[in-house]
Amino acid sequence: MNTPSPIDPLSIALIGCGKMGGAMLHGWLAAGMTHAAYVLEPGHLPPELAHNPVVKHLHNADALPITDVLVLAVKPQSIAEVCASLKLDPSTLVLSIAAGQKLANFEKHFGDTHPIIRAMPNTPASIAKGMTVLVANKNVTKDHHEMATQLLSATGHVEWVKDEDLMDAVTALSGSGPAYVFHLIEVMTQAGIECGLDADFAKSLARQTVIGSAALAEAEHETPAEHLRKNVTSPGGTTEAALNILMNGEMQDIFTRALMAATARSKELSK
Ligand SMILES: NC(=O)c1ccc[n+]([C@@H]2O[C@H](COP(=O)([O-])OP(=O)(O)OC[C@H]3O[C@@H](n4cnc5c(N)ncnc54)[C@H](OP(=O)(O)O)[C@@H]3O)[C@@H](O)[C@H]2O)c1
Repeated sequence: MNTPSPIDPLSIALIGCGKMGGAMLHGWLAAGMTHAAYVLEPGHLPPELAHNPVVKHLHNADALPITDVLVLAVKPQSIAEVCASLKLDPSTLVLSIAAGQKLANFEKHFGDTHPIIRAMPNTPASIAKGMTVLVANKNVTKDHHEMATQLLSATGHVEWVKDEDLMDAVTALSGSGPAYVFHLIEVMTQAGIECGLDADFAKSLARQTVIGSAALAEAEHETPAEHLRKNVTSPGGTTEAALNILMNGEMQDIFTRALMAATARSKELSK
């Protein structure tokens, strides 16, 4: 596991500071970012970002200085317009987190000699518990590679892939994954209510159970999930009664279909 490390004085331009851009910026600030982060965002920044002396809020692409890294965190449908408005220095590493936007697409905008990295982060990045997967184009040097690893490690765990085609399945699993876990809290809450618990009580029990289980999986990160599950399951007990239903194949089937739908959507967005 990577542990979050303070960011060396990298200069960063962040284009788009919505849910994901904001989550990453929170992660960098929490990691002790000291160099200015130039944030191009048409809307307001939340007060804790707007009042942070490191954050320089810009409203116009022409005001962007040359930076080591430019992070593109706008919606995929805004990428073409945003790229067209940017005048990039050839030395600036472009790091895009836009779902479904391929490296070749950015090479069309910035030239096929420009260093470009495509990343798929997830929202736990805001509390340094993110999972980011990266893929680089041919112009990315060892230094760029280290720069991106360093930047994203400040927001959690980092993995690299060589095959860009894997990014669709990555998007489906870890990019969208936090939503599936939050949905698990919702379905466990509803099931608790149907078993007779008061709604607020069920909500609290479901939430804390997911939090505690995730923390246990982290604390025992070398123990496979299967073992952690078996540790809670006594033969003939209550957990086994529930798992006999959960593990009859339907849940696996639902998750496989869900991730296949997300993978297919990611491929569609890439066209
Ligand atoms: N959310 C996730 O869990 C997640 C996970 C992995 C990857 N991603 C990727 O991250 C990217 C951002 O997603 P998001 O969920 O953070 O979306 P979002 O909350 O809508 O954030 C996008 C931000 O970009 C701003 N923006 C729009 N046009 C701009 C421009 N021309 N220049 C600068 N900023 C501009 C938007 O401002 P306005 O709202 O005022 O238009 C908004 O604040 C997407 O490409 C998505 O695929 C998201």
